[in-house]
Amino acid sequence: MHIKVDFQPVGRHVQVESGTTILEAAQAAGVGLSAVCGGAGSCGTCLVRLSADAPVSPPKAIEREALRPEDLAAGLRLACQVELYGSTRVEVPPESLSAPQRTQVEGEERPVELAPQVRAYDLRLPPATQADLRADYERLSDALVAAGAPRPTRRPLCVLAGLPNLLRENDWGVRVGLRGDEIVNVAAPGTPLLGLAVDIGTTKVAGYLVDLLSGETLAMRGLMNPQIAYGEDVMARIAYAIQHEDGLQVLQQAIVDALNGLARDLCAEGATHFENASHLTLDPSQIVEAVVVGNTAMHHLFLGLPVKQLGLAPYVAAVSAPLDVPASAIGLGLAPGATVHLLPNIAGFVGADHVSMLLATGTHLKDGVVLSLDIGTNTEITLAAHGRMFACSTASGPAFEGAHIRDGMRAAQGAIERVRITDSRLEYQTIGDEPPVGICGSGILDAVAQLRLAGVLNRRGAMDRDNPLVRQGEDGPEVVLAPAPRTRHGRDVVLSRKDVSEIQLAKGAMRAGIEILLEHTGLTADDIEEFIIAGAFGTYIDVRSAVAIGMFPPLPLERFRQVGNAAGIGAKLALLSSAQRAAAEALAARVEYLELTNYADFQHSFAKALSL
Ligand code: FES
Repeated sequence: MHIKVDFQPVGRHVQVESGTTILEAAQAAGVGLSAVCGGAGSCGTCLVRLSADAPVSPPKAIEREALRPEDLAAGLRLACQVELYGSTRVEVPPESLSAPQRTQVEGEERPVELAPQVRAYDLRLPPATQADLRADYERLSDALVAAGAPRPTRRPLCVLAGLPNLLRENDWGVRVGLRGDEIVNVAAPGTPLLGLAVDIGTTKVAGYLVDLLSGETLAMRGLMNPQIAYGEDVMARIAYAIQHEDGLQVLQQAIVDALNGLARDLCAEGATHFENASHLTLDPSQIVEAVVVGNTAMHHLFLGLPVKQLGLAPYVAAVSAPLDVPASAIGLGLAPGATVHLLPNIAGFVGADHVSMLLATGTHLKDGVVLSLDIGTNTEITLAAHGRMFACSTASGPAFEGAHIRDGMRAAQGAIERVRITDSRLEYQTIGDEPPVGICGSGILDAVAQLRLAGVLNRRGAMDRDNPLVRQGEDGPEVVLAPAPRTRHGRDVVLSRKDVSEIQLAKGAMRAGIEILLEHTGLTADDIEEFIIAGAFGTYIDVRSAVAIGMFPPLPLERFRQVGNAAGIGAKLALLSSAQRAAAEALAARVEYLELTNYADFQHSFAKALSL
């Protein structure tokens, strides 16, 4: 019997015989799962996670020896020991991959005047004596006022708890983190004052550790959003949250745990940036503030807010206003009085990450006509024209992340990321120059564009069956991108006619959104002076291919700007500068949201935008 195995978050799936081990299935799928002992069950590097009801063999003695009972209870298994008896979804933790997945954290920076919400006050207090019997806190409070700070009004117990010992161990010297008139932390003199900026994407999370005294980025890191284990896209996660009694808590806990781990990893990495680094340890307890952005669903799930209404028309958010939430209230282990700031959302499908992107790219500051878009499962688009801003969201689907594409995968090692056809010869390039395993978004886009330019595809996306590159496959006509002898799993990597249709739907939705915004403002594509493309996928695509298939309008190439993870950079700006935070709030209030489903012309624009 054939069963389907779905490896996440790599995004690869494969059909295997019942009884195959997970490690064998991973090898057949071309997933680079670590297996240092070659499957003997002795190295523990092939760790994967399964759901409790996965149709697989029970834990063997060798697994019971290697894994703690709580790990087994949490679904962890050794891939080399588990036999598959039915279709299964396998979660591969990053540490079990032989090569990391590509996550986009870098983005185009812009300078900002340093003015964070939390300020450091370095104080030396007069010691307590028989003649001066003030309590430690009152002594600190007086010293703050003497240093020009406002007198603190709130006295968090968690801060007070550490104060007496701290003062006496440091000869009455102390560094105080003050947010307005609220004490966030007290620490030994010279302790770094750190900030954390996070962009929670549906698939990937990007984090940045910032020194709030210098504005310098000490470390940045990307990781896969662990909520993928509960649903690949926003709608699947909303469904999980609704259908399971504890669904919302499970999803919230998954992302909070990931952010706690991220904070620890960033601290470990960031210490090396300081002089005398050998004496310095960075610790999440030194993080006095965090700024978090994400699409509206990720924002709500992070806060534990209900998401049911996001999945039903008319798709409204629980809250759009910016929020300040105590980090401890959502389980983030930062400084005792640390706050998490969330930038505002615009609509149910245009979230704080888009606001952050607009802030980072300065879209709101431009005089002319600027189109900014962030490509994902949903593509958010803002058209800024002569002082006004209009936004919409289009359901571009997960095709560019490799989903619903026969050999599709996310941007991991061995993914075909570039395709060129010269003189009827098809050439490709893979991530990491590894033997091909599948094809990721930028590769799919290139392949469709190149096949169209070479005349293999017509405007409707049909394949020319007489072309030597085309053969008849199981699902109809297809083109072999990489033949079996050259691939890691020994099977052809192909692009089928059905795959081309998926790309047409994705790019058609995006282009229709652009056209509706232009129409609404009475402009034409040629009026766009700057076309800003943000996000991981947008960073790696070849803009010429996107233009060739009509995903973007045919503008001169110099008008396009690929800016990387602008949402993450915007979060960092809001962390470093109170003025930028206020600017984000003001710009979100200015954006006029267009609901495309209400737009009578959308179906017509969409149908027109399908052609290549
Ligand atoms: S490959 Fe070593 S334990 Fe599974």
